[in-house]
Amino acid sequence: MENTIITFIGAGNMAKSLIGGLLSSGFRGHNIRAFDTDPEALNTASSLGPISIHDDSYSATLGAHIIVLAVKPQSISQACSSIRACVIKQDSVVVTIAAGITTSFIKEQLQEKCKVVRCMPNTPALVGWGASGLFTADKMSDEEKNLIDAIFSAVGTTFWAETEADIDIITALSGSGPAYFFLFMECLADIACQLGLNKEAAIALTKQTAAGAAHMTLENNIDLKELRKNVTSPGGTTEKAIEAFLANGFREAVTLALKAAHERALQFSSNRSSN
Ligand SMILES: NC(=O)c1ccc[n+]([C@@H]2O[C@H](COP(=O)([O-])OP(=O)(O)OC[C@H]3O[C@@H](n4cnc5c(N)ncnc54)[C@H](OP(=O)(O)O)[C@@H]3O)[C@@H](O)[C@H]2O)c1
Repeated sequence: MENTIITFIGAGNMAKSLIGGLLSSGFRGHNIRAFDTDPEALNTASSLGPISIHDDSYSATLGAHIIVLAVKPQSISQACSSIRACVIKQDSVVVTIAAGITTSFIKEQLQEKCKVVRCMPNTPALVGWGASGLFTADKMSDEEKNLIDAIFSAVGTTFWAETEADIDIITALSGSGPAYFFLFMECLADIACQLGLNKEAAIALTKQTAAGAAHMTLENNIDLKELRKNVTSPGGTTEKAIEAFLANGFREAVTLALKAAHERALQFSSNRSSN
């Protein structure tokens, strides 16, 4: 673990948050390498700490134990072809965080026997509150798996999926999920304003309520429905609101939204699968 080298191909927002997480969890900077086709992105990454910046993907990848492909889905093929010559002659684990990029697609681009982990992180990782779904079908050592887990645990929580199909559900749930909560919060604040509250108070109270509710779900192991029932007094204001939500298609809207996101994730995955 001490001499493990982790390379980031792509040093954009997600790579920077992962590098920041690794550094703050005590991982040695000189064992973290980064390469990006955009010199500006590399420049910003170098300000995170004493990491090793490379101006070509070959030198960044040579001897790396873990290679994180942190580029957009449309750049994955190019990123793979730039590291292929190195990967075929060493025993690295390749981690992809690009939405809709399947493990079979990565193997097709690199080599069949290459060890691949597919990860779906989410935007709160940028502030250390991420939720990442991970999947691998390849046999790897406990040390490799623990290390990959540590990369994503440094910016939030991790969940190892049993099947690759789960990653498409995770994409619809936690990958896209932050935006669902933002939309709900936006609605709450807007309506509170319409009811007469000033905008600043409406936004501040919405944010703190969301954070407080989220904390309650994390801090005790109570079932989500139970938590809701606990704050819903019979005949009170909360009960009236919940009744109005449910009578006006709240559950149906959530069902349609999740299914639409899942469907889209399946389309992305099937477009980028060698099967
Ligand atoms: N940001 C998130 O919250 C989030 C959440 C879940 C998943 N993801 C996934 O994480 C991946 C990275 O996202 P991001 O937001 O960090 O993207 P980003 O900010 O656009 O960073 C990607 C970086 O990679 C560079 N790049 C492109 N092709 C390259 C290549 N062949 N070799 C090396 N570098 C290359 C890009 O340069 P150019 O700009 O010059 O192309 C850019 O600087 C994406 O696949 C995304 O789907 C991100």
